[in-house]
Amino acid sequence: MGLCFSYPSSASKTGLHSHASTNHHSNGIDYSSSTAATTGSSVERRSQFSEVASETSGGTLSNSGLLLESPNLKVYSFLDLKTATKNFKPDSMLGQGGFGKVYRGWIDAKTLAPSKAGSGITVAVKRLNSESVQGLAEWRSEVNFLGMLSHPNLVKLLGYCREDKELLLVYEFMPKGSLENHLFRRNEPFPWDLRVKIVIGAAQGLAFLHSSQREVIYRDFKASNILLDSNYDAKLSDFGLAKLGPSNEKSHVTTRIMGTHGYAAPEYMATGHLYVKSDVYAFGVVLLEVMTGLRAHDTKRPYGQENLVDWLRPDLSSKHKVKRLMDKGIEGQYTTKVATEMARITLSCVEPDPKNRPHMKDVLGVLEHIQRINVPSRFSSRPAVASSSHASPRHRYGYRAGAAGAERRRPSPGRFGADKDMDG
Ligand SMILES: Nc1ncnc2c1ncn2[C@@H]1O[C@H](COP(=O)(O)OP(=O)(O)OP(=O)(O)O)[C@@H](O)[C@H]1O
Ligand SMILES: [Mg+2]
Repeated sequence: MGLCFSYPSSASKTGLHSHASTNHHSNGIDYSSSTAATTGSSVERRSQFSEVASETSGGTLSNSGLLLESPNLKVYSFLDLKTATKNFKPDSMLGQGGFGKVYRGWIDAKTLAPSKAGSGITVAVKRLNSESVQGLAEWRSEVNFLGMLSHPNLVKLLGYCREDKELLLVYEFMPKGSLENHLFRRNEPFPWDLRVKIVIGAAQGLAFLHSSQREVIYRDFKASNILLDSNYDAKLSDFGLAKLGPSNEKSHVTTRIMGTHGYAAPEYMATGHLYVKSDVYAFGVVLLEVMTGLRAHDTKRPYGQENLVDWLRPDLSSKHKVKRLMDKGIEGQYTTKVATEMARITLSCVEPDPKNRPHMKDVLGVLEHIQRINVPSRFSSRPAVASSSHASPRHRYGYRAGAAGAERRRPSPGRFGADKDMDG
């Protein structure tokens, strides 16, 4: 998990954006643009998406993705989800993020009603920390976006619960966990072919979000938010920070910068200006993590190397240096040409100027090409999911690429505060 941050942007401090949206509730949450999901039978539609729906007539956004006419979410009581998760038993915990714990639960496949442990289908139940004010805003955003969008590369939200202070979300279960788990938390190096497959799936998800008339800016693209099904198909999760793009050509401005260290684009960090191209930057960061097996941000690295992009960007344009920065644990699984091409697309994604970054659909095309051309001689005899002899991969820089064995998640330092938005 990344180190999360949230603080007011310099843009807000300078008062440059005085036309911020109004009607903010005293606790800082904008009720005017948020879905008021209730414990009733439907989700109130006064959401950011009612705007998208009217612009796209509820039609198809891409070949495989849909903006639904109305959210089709099951409303659960707290008792339902207590039953489904064996009373949130610690041994059914799947992981923990900055906003709460995620538990394994069981529901009936047809009715989606809670069922006994071990019967029906497995789901993931996220229980938000009840004391977090920002948690409510993020919970609403998740219900708004994931309740209305449907795409094979977005995780499916099945239902939710809001009861007193309890806020919960019920998702399809992703049996292979997150890309972050595989890259950084296991002893064995994660095979190159699966890394490429996963970033292609994630690119499809992002390209879909960016392709709607009123683009969706995901804002929290990172390895821990790329979840994997049993076939290692990637699905994006966590739309708590997602925003609709501005209605004009300009950027979306947030007065409180929120995200995860190492992934946030420089223009967003500096000014609060948010573009779909800010997502492309974060995508480039994940590509660099995939190439190197190193985290986007790691304070345990020596001074000057904490931020992966700042540290390694100069190396990406040198064929010789690219060879050296690749994760040693997967040597022989990719050709030099593949590594060079990957470095090239990574470099363009992390261009400092958002205008110079490619669109996600172009990034996708390049990644599919990279997947096609990779026929390394040493790799051709390897099994699809390698069991490597590199039990404890060491990077060329002399430290472990991942923290071995830690399956359960540490809570991330909580994000706090609420952001106010405007188009700038
Ligand atoms: N649908 C799911 N299926 C299976 N496991 C899941 C699912 N959703 C989340 N998890 C597990 O729970 C962990 C915590 O997820 P969560 O989204 O709360 O936090 P995070 O993304 O790691 O961190 P952050 O709070 O910074 O976004 C994930 O790393 C993953 O292992
Ligand atoms: Mg997450």
